[in-house]
Amino acid sequence: MIVLGIETSCDDTSAGVWGGNSLLSNVISTQWVHRNFGGVVPELASRSHIRLIVPVIEQALYEAGCGKKDIQGIAVTYGPGLAGSLLVGLSTAKGLSLALNVPFVGINHLEGHIWANVLSHPSLEPPFVALIASGGHTQLVLVQAWGKYRILGRTRDDAAGEAFDKVGKLLQVGFPGGPAIEKLAQSGNPKAVRFPRAFLEEGSLDFSFSGIKTAVLNHVQAIGFENALEQLSNIAAAFQEAVIDVLVQKTVLAGKKTNVRRICLAGGVTVNRALQARMQQTGADHGMDVFFPTPALCTDNGGMIARAGVFYLEQGRFSDPTLAPNPSLNF
Ligand code: KG4
Ligand code: ZN
Repeated sequence: MIVLGIETSCDDTSAGVWGGNSLLSNVISTQWVHRNFGGVVPELASRSHIRLIVPVIEQALYEAGCGKKDIQGIAVTYGPGLAGSLLVGLSTAKGLSLALNVPFVGINHLEGHIWANVLSHPSLEPPFVALIASGGHTQLVLVQAWGKYRILGRTRDDAAGEAFDKVGKLLQVGFPGGPAIEKLAQSGNPKAVRFPRAFLEEGSLDFSFSGIKTAVLNHVQAIGFENALEQLSNIAAAFQEAVIDVLVQKTVLAGKKTNVRRICLAGGVTVNRALQARMQQTGADHGMDVFFPTPALCTDNGGMIARAGVFYLEQGRFSDPTLAPNPSLNF
């Protein structure tokens, strides 16, 4: 089945084509315009999606060696995300579906991130625990079967990626903060400063990342910004270490509590090499196998949406043309 996947939930305009038994193409156009503002500007994001969506889809079809007429189904993110951004992808999918007379299915963006693991590890099967850590979400999900999800814990305030972005902003390392902080951290000493780890109540699988952001701000104010600039890599390393400690320990705890020995990483933050390495090491110490997608599949992409769509479309599970964007969709 040849399926076109469309993703426009935030600031990446992306389309991927699934066909035969593999991902044939995955085109991602990141909107650099937001860098000038230190965060995603929703109005600019939706306008950029409008400009980019058709060329991105055409490029994805070209790279896949397909024409529009070859498309047998369309998968599109309909939430969670920015309403105006989601609307562009969803309207495009509906228009194509109507014009080509093929079904479309709305996909939960977070479920798409989980499916990205299957693109990199085709034999991966549930049950497993998924840690979803992105710019807007941080949660632990038990994948009991494909399409059957149970939330085990979630952040009570900021998402992990949001913490990276906010700390990146206060350290003035650019937007998004995650990649810049990871790069700085490589030459820093994670033990140089001790930032708090919010483990919450004993046994809790919820997260809280707003405190660490404040702790970094307080530290920078205490030593002065000039000194902080000299200590940038140490601060980045110490911050990253604190976030990783919490993410890894809670994910392993989720595996233990559910008696599931397989862990998958999903979402933009999980592209972080230090997080992947620590999760693998700690997982191995507890007899757990750890999976994560290749880097281009960790962050937002249409390929993961196409793969999730194949699961539903093959069962004849389609969406209705009245489907509306759902900015706060969850499992
Ligand atoms: O999944 P994603 O591409 O978009 C959302 O659905 O939010 O995730 C984006 C988030 C941003 O907060 C970004 O700072 C973070 O992922 N991120 C990283 C890294 N690369 C991206 N966080 C930590 N380390 C990285 N290398
Ligand atoms: Zn995402």
